[in-house]
Amino acid sequence: MEQIPTVQSTSGLLRTIRQINGVLRPLNFMEERNRKYGDFYQITFKNAPPTVMTSNPQAIEDIFTASPDTFEVGKGNQGLNFLVGDNSLLLLDGKVHKNRRRLLMPSFHGESLQECSHKIVSITRKVCDGWQLNESFKVRPYMQEITLRVILNVVFGIDSGEKYERLRVLLTKLLETFNNPLSSLLIFFPTLRKDWGKFSPWGRFLLLKEEIRKLIYQEIKERRDLLASGKSERRDIFSLLLLAKDENGKGMTDEELHDELITLLFAGHETTASGLAWLFYWIHSLPEVQEKLRFELDSLGANPDYREINNLPYLDAVISETLRIYPIAAGTFGRILTKPMSVMGYDFDPKTWLMISIYSLHHREDLYPNSKQFKPERFLQTSYSPYEYIPFGGGNRRCLGSALALLEMKLVTATVLPRFQLELTSKRPMLPVRRGLTLAPPASFKMVVKNKIT
Ligand code: HEM
Repeated sequence: MEQIPTVQSTSGLLRTIRQINGVLRPLNFMEERNRKYGDFYQITFKNAPPTVMTSNPQAIEDIFTASPDTFEVGKGNQGLNFLVGDNSLLLLDGKVHKNRRRLLMPSFHGESLQECSHKIVSITRKVCDGWQLNESFKVRPYMQEITLRVILNVVFGIDSGEKYERLRVLLTKLLETFNNPLSSLLIFFPTLRKDWGKFSPWGRFLLLKEEIRKLIYQEIKERRDLLASGKSERRDIFSLLLLAKDENGKGMTDEELHDELITLLFAGHETTASGLAWLFYWIHSLPEVQEKLRFELDSLGANPDYREINNLPYLDAVISETLRIYPIAAGTFGRILTKPMSVMGYDFDPKTWLMISIYSLHHREDLYPNSKQFKPERFLQTSYSPYEYIPFGGGNRRCLGSALALLEMKLVTATVLPRFQLELTSKRPMLPVRRGLTLAPPASFKMVVKNKIT
C-alpha cells in the first residue's frame, strides 16, 4: 500500500504565519494543499499525534458511518467554550450528547417546523418593509435580523417585549466582535484575547457576554417560577429544556440551560444569515437563475402553502448550489480518535485528529465539473450521496438545524422575490471572507431596490 502523503508541521514563527494564512485565506490555503497532497493526507507534529485532512468521499463515508464512540468531537470543540460555555451540545460527547440531541431534535423537524413557517414569513415581511425604492442597503444586517428573530422565536417562544429586544441587540453586538477577518483571529489565537477595557475588542466582548448571561439567568428564574406555579403552557425549546430530566430524574442546572440556549441562538442564526446573503447574491448576479426561480414561484399562485414552497425543485437546487459553492463552514468539526481506526485502508492510532474539508469536497471536479461555476441544474440531474455533498456535516454530529435553515432560506426567498425587484450595486464577483468560525459574503455586500410592490 502506498504511503499516505505527509506534511511535516513546522514550528515557531513559520507555523504561526501558516496558521494565520489558513484563517485569513482559507480557500487558497485548502486549494494549494489539495494540489500538492491530494484528497487524503496527514500533517505530522513533533510531540503530538497527526491530523488527517480529507475531502475523499470514501474516507468521509468511513468517518460518518463509524460508531459514535470512535471519536471525541466535544473535546475537539473545547476551544469554543469562551462563547458557548462548557455545557454546550457542541462540547458534549457520548451518552450525554446523544440524549441532548434526542431531546432537541423534534423541535427542529416535522410539525414544529410547520408551526414556525408562518412566523418566518411574517418576520421576513416586517424586516424587509424598511427597504425603500431606489435606496441601497447592506444585505447582511437584514438577513441576520430575520434569522435572529426566527431563532429567538423557536428557542424562547417570544418575539416582542423589552427583554427580547435587549437580548436581540446584545447578541447582534456580541457577534459583531468577529465580523471581519482580522477580528476573527481572536477565535483562533487565544493569546490575542486581552481585556483592555470596554474600548478593546475582547474587553467589549466580555462585557456584552456578561450582560447576556445576566439576562438569560433572569429569564431562567422567571420561567422556573412560572413552571412551579403551573401557569406555563409554552411549547418552545426553553420549556422543553426546563422540563427535561436525565435517567436519574435530575433536571438541567441554570448553567447547563444557559449554555444550551446560547449555543442554539448562535449556531442557529449566524450561519443561516450567511447562507441567505449568498443566496441573494447568486439569484441577482445570474439573470437566468432569477428568471427560472420567479417562474417557478409564480406557478404556485397567491398565498402558497409552506409545504408547496418547501417542495419546489428549482428553488431547492438553487439553495443546494449556494451551500455547495461557498459552504458556510469550510470544514466539519474535528473528530479525535478514541480507539484505533482504519480509514480508506490506512490504520490510525487513538488521539489522531480527523478533519473533513467541506469546501474541497464540494469542488472536486469528478463530482462537480466546472466546480467554480454556479449551476443549480447539477442538483436536478444528479443525486449526491451524504458523503459527496455535506454542507451540514454528517454522522452523529450532523447539523441539528439543517431543516430549519433550509426552510428559512426557501421561505425568505419566496416572500421577498414577488414583492421586490432588487439589483446588486456592484458587478464585481464576490468572494467569501472569514467571519468568526465561518466563511461569509463580505460585510460590504449591498443591493438596491428597483421596484417594490406594496
Ligand atoms: C445554512 C445554515 C447552517 C449551516 C451551513 C450549518 C452547518 C453546520 C455544520 C457543518 C455542523 C458540523 C457538523 C459536523 O461536524 O458533522 C453543524 C453543527 C450544528 N449546527 Fe448547524 N448549520 C446551519 C444552521 C443551523 C441552525 C439553524 C441551527 C439551529 C439551532 C444549527 C445548529 C447546529 C448544532 C446544535 C450543531 C452541533 C451538532 C452536534 O454537535 O451534535 N445549525 N452545523
